[in-house]
Amino acid sequence: MNKWLRLVSISLVIFLLGSVAVLAAPEKVKIGFLVKMPEELWFQNEWKFAQQAADEYGFELIKIGTPDGPTTLTAIDNLAAQGAQGFVICTPDPRLGPAIMSKANSYGMKVLAVDDQFVGPDGEFMDVHYMGISARKIGEMVGQSLYEEFLNRGWNVEDTAAMAITFDELDTVKQRTDGAADALIAEGFPADQIHRAAERTTDVPGAFEAASALLAKHQKVKHWLVFSVNDEGVLGALRALEQRGYAADDIVAIGIGAGDGLMEWNKQEETGYFACALISPVRHGYETSELMYKWIKDGIEPPKTIYTAGELVTRENYKERAKALGLDL
Ligand code: GLA
Repeated sequence: MNKWLRLVSISLVIFLLGSVAVLAAPEKVKIGFLVKMPEELWFQNEWKFAQQAADEYGFELIKIGTPDGPTTLTAIDNLAAQGAQGFVICTPDPRLGPAIMSKANSYGMKVLAVDDQFVGPDGEFMDVHYMGISARKIGEMVGQSLYEEFLNRGWNVEDTAAMAITFDELDTVKQRTDGAADALIAEGFPADQIHRAAERTTDVPGAFEAASALLAKHQKVKHWLVFSVNDEGVLGALRALEQRGYAADDIVAIGIGAGDGLMEWNKQEETGYFACALISPVRHGYETSELMYKWIKDGIEPPKTIYTAGELVTRENYKERAKALGLDL
């Protein structure tokens, strides 16, 4: 073979090997994480722990706040354009489920719903992978603990009422307040002394507005037991009670969350925030992303539904318990 021919064939072989290497290079895993309320600490924590998973496993995490339908659907287009193979999502509205799934399917993307479960046109939950909290059980725990503390305080039942700041459009949060109310009644608290106020948004201003309206209607109550769909709901109610002049020791409020409520105890002043049903943004952020990564990379399908637990903490033990859950406060 002449010298030139040999050189050409060697270059060709190198070129071909190079191309094969390029073809065989594993595609970078990119995962979207879409949340309905990016300003809420719960969702910021989910993102934080999802990022930890991304750093550990070496995938790219694309975080997008999606407060409504149009931003959600556009975000999925964006993810596809960036080459993401799947996403974890807390939808702004469970009824967007079918639209989210048809878009995701058109791009061949995998979907894992977190926190809020998709609902189909028939009103039933959709058959889509989901991780949520054990809402009913956690609500019952809140109701039982409220009752226990009501007894501890030795309050007269005639002077005491319970306030529920509710948001019944969303199943996971309806189950929480229903569970708490049912447990209070089962313990013996009078059902007609549990007053419900629906909030327009599941945040502090939404709850403040709902609680203020409710308090205007029940001015004779001396002591309040307070529960809601999340910490924000309870904190909004507390601010409304404070504005009406209630002292911290006339209130027993129990939240559900992993952040805002706990911070209430870092403040110097007294607070009616008595306990928190601690839930895990580590599992909802880190674990969902990890499951999605393994699904994309190794074809390991996650369990269809995962329900995470809650644990009641008080001012005395919250630091230690939060640390045990991997939360740095
Ligand atoms: C819902 C609520 C959030 C948070 C999560 C936890 O999405 O709106 O505040 O409690 O559930 O799963």
